Amino acid sequence: MKKPLTMTLATLLAATAWALLAPMAHAADPAKSMRGADVNAADAAADTKAYAGKRPGTQPLVARTFSTQPPVIPHAVENFDEITLEENQCLSCHGVEVYKKKNAPVIGDSHFVGRDGKKLATAAAARHNCVQCHVPQVDAPPLVENAFQGDVVPPKAAKK
Ligand code: HEC
Ligand code: HEC
Repeated sequence: MKKPLTMTLATLLAATAWALLAPMAHAADPAKSMRGADVNAADAAADTKAYAGKRPGTQPLVARTFSTQPPVIPHAVENFDEITLEENQCLSCHGVEVYKKKNAPVIGDSHFVGRDGKKLATAAAARHNCVQCHVPQVDAPPLVENAFQGDVVPPKAAKK
């Protein structure tokens, strides 16, 4: 009967020591946040960066990362008017009737498919808000290093 009691006592002592010391070990090695700030600190607003890209017609297309990706906008967009129900400046260069004259790539084939999957003669209304899918770029380093490789497809050259 004596032996099991000694063992129980030893186990109890070990458990108590662990309960007391473990938090101390934890305090000596605090969590390292990937943001570089204290875990409890409020998020600092990110720097506002200027969009990369200059006047349309002077910019190389940006390689796509995966086949169904909306290509990113390689040119500046700041000087364009906002897209409204009546106005869409993007289409004044990328529209079917004008793209040849403007020497711009025409809107993609998928833009002529209605929501029932049928082909349309004109661009689908669902594609009116271009910047919902196509975005300008900023020159920003990746937040975390990574070795991502997409199924890269070279961008189609401007259809002329
Ligand atoms: C003044 C004419 C013009 C206007 C306006 C314009 N673009 Fe462009 N866009 C171009 C030209 C030209 C290119 C080809 C790249 C270059 O030369 O800059 C291009 C390239 C692009 C591409 C890249 C296509 C690819 O295959 O990689 C996208 C996406 C695009 N524009 C979207 C837009 C959107 C969205 C708007 C409206 C916010 C817009 N563009 C307004 C002329 C224009
Ligand atoms: C719902 C998302 C979406 C919207 C809205 C949209 N696009 Fe696209 N766009 C895409 C995708 C995805 C592709 C690539 C597939 C394709 O070519 O259809 C593409 C392709 C393009 C291309 C390149 C075509 C090529 O040569 O491969 C141009 C230029 C373009 N879009 C312009 C526009 C303009 C201008 C508008 C607004 C009138 C617009 N897009 C609205 C998703 C969108």
